[in-house]
Amino acid sequence: MNRRLFRVLLLAVAMVLGSAATLLAAEVEEPPARDWPHEGIFGRYDKAALQRGFQVFKEVCASCHSARYLRFRDLAGIGLDQATIKALAAEFTVEDCCDENGEPFERPARPADRFPPPYPNDQAARAANGGALPPDLSLIVKARDRGEDYIYALLTGYEEPPADAEPPGEGVSWNPYFPGGWIAMPPPLMEDLVEYPDGTPATVEQMASDVTQFLAWLSEPTMEERKRTGLKYMLFVLVLTGLFYAYKRKIWSRLH
Ligand code: HEC
Repeated sequence: MNRRLFRVLLLAVAMVLGSAATLLAAEVEEPPARDWPHEGIFGRYDKAALQRGFQVFKEVCASCHSARYLRFRDLAGIGLDQATIKALAAEFTVEDCCDENGEPFERPARPADRFPPPYPNDQAARAANGGALPPDLSLIVKARDRGEDYIYALLTGYEEPPADAEPPGEGVSWNPYFPGGWIAMPPPLMEDLVEYPDGTPATVEQMASDVTQFLAWLSEPTMEERKRTGLKYMLFVLVLTGLFYAYKRKIWSRLH
């Protein structure tokens, strides 16, 4: 191929790739990095934050979102005792099968029951949310890149839409962290939406941080165990390395 033509082609390809990259980058804002107490090899969940976060989930998010892998008894993991869990479960009604006539019946929930979803099925959930499906939140922190930072940014990042942005339909809000910008979830948090029993002021940032930590726990309740096991193995390998080194020196000492 003609050398000059090759160069022009190369330049054209570079320009197209370059502008595509800027376009993609401009579309979603990168969530700012935050420090989370459960990050890092020594990170632990902050139980007080998890309990406040569960309160936000239960009183706010659960009116639209399900958490199908959460059973009431799992809440022992955020530090709730058995009596509290029992009383909490009893606030909810679940459908059970079946009475003596073979009919499903309703009863108060028990600790072994799953946290009841707000809608009976996806169609009902979409119908109530302008056609958009509020996703199940059980694994959402794992399902999104840099899940904690993203969810915190999403919950606190609602803004006025840019002047040239055209909403794709009714009832959408502008959020620069959501891919495409327009999100069918109205801003879910506002100041003092919940009342924390521990007296923590319920600012939007506080509730967003608490519920994000709760969702992180929900997507990996056994994280602390995993890290403890990892540390034990590291220690074991370290001790073993020392032993082998001493042994090696002992064997070689005879040859020197
Ligand atoms: C009024 C109903 C409603 C409430 C309340 C609500 N959401 Fe949503 N949420 C939605 C809908 C609808 C979507 C889907 C948005 C879309 O696809 O445009 C959504 C999407 C999400 C997403 C997924 C975003 C993504 O990347 O796909 C997260 C995370 C989320 N909500 C978290 C929360 C949290 C945390 C709360 C509680 C503080 C909450 N939501 C409260 C309706 C709600």
